[in-house]
Amino acid sequence: HPARDFPPERQPPAVIAHRGASEDAPEHTLAAYRKAIEDGADALECDVRLTADGHLVCVHDRRVNRTSNGRGAVSAMELSDLSALDFGSWKGQAADSEAPDRDSTSVLTLERLLELVADAGRPVELAIETKHPTRWAGQVEERLLDLLGRFGLAAPPVGQPSPVRVMSFSARSLHRVRAAAPAIPTVYLMQFVSPRHRDGRLPPGVRIAGPSIRIIRNNPGYVARLHRAGHQVHVWTVNEQADVELCARLGVDAVITNRPKEVLSQLGRP
Ligand code: G3P
Ligand code: CA
Repeated sequence: HPARDFPPERQPPAVIAHRGASEDAPEHTLAAYRKAIEDGADALECDVRLTADGHLVCVHDRRVNRTSNGRGAVSAMELSDLSALDFGSWKGQAADSEAPDRDSTSVLTLERLLELVADAGRPVELAIETKHPTRWAGQVEERLLDLLGRFGLAAPPVGQPSPVRVMSFSARSLHRVRAAAPAIPTVYLMQFVSPRHRDGRLPPGVRIAGPSIRIIRNNPGYVARLHRAGHQVHVWTVNEQADVELCARLGVDAVITNRPKEVLSQLGRP
């Protein structure tokens, strides 16, 4: 498909790889994130959950059943239990125990993802989503900020933009992050627009709105309202060409997609 001409005064949206390049490789694996970096994604999205022994791992669902050959809830398993599982074969990418790179389809810790980003050879941002924040009453955020601190990512130098954002459907989780690390921008994810956010205002302190693409399809004017209220707008999950075009036309700031390579090409970015 040809690259489109977008209004020249408008920057095309940044492209965030949702669970990595998750159309091409099993979601939340090193393989998917390596591919996203290779494809030129501006940022990587990942969901984080806490294991029973306190490790943050990148897994979307509450249970591992859909994306691995194991069964059970992440929060009831230890990292060693998760490490024995294969997170690739459900997507036709079997782990090869002989291969030097077996870890490309094993469970991904957030720590390993941060190492990958640090070694990417170019700036790659991270959009980290806290899942099940109520189950652990603050521990997810605490561990997250601890880890980001160890990588020097909890407090960017004054005047520099943060390469990390924390996202959540839970305003309480975002509040905890801001209280401990005010320099990290927070993204308030929305599946529906509640009446109190209809005018574009978000929970206090939130900088970025994260509406679903369905919200924007049904109500394109909402982007301008959020912008007028001073918020950036990051839309998920934008996979269809028509949706990419809609987001670009509306001046959305970032699109979160399973297909970073195709979306970058549609936006006319090499
Ligand atoms: O990027 C936000 C989006 O990932 C939220 O939905 O279910 O894919 O985590 P979900
Ligand atoms: Ca997510």
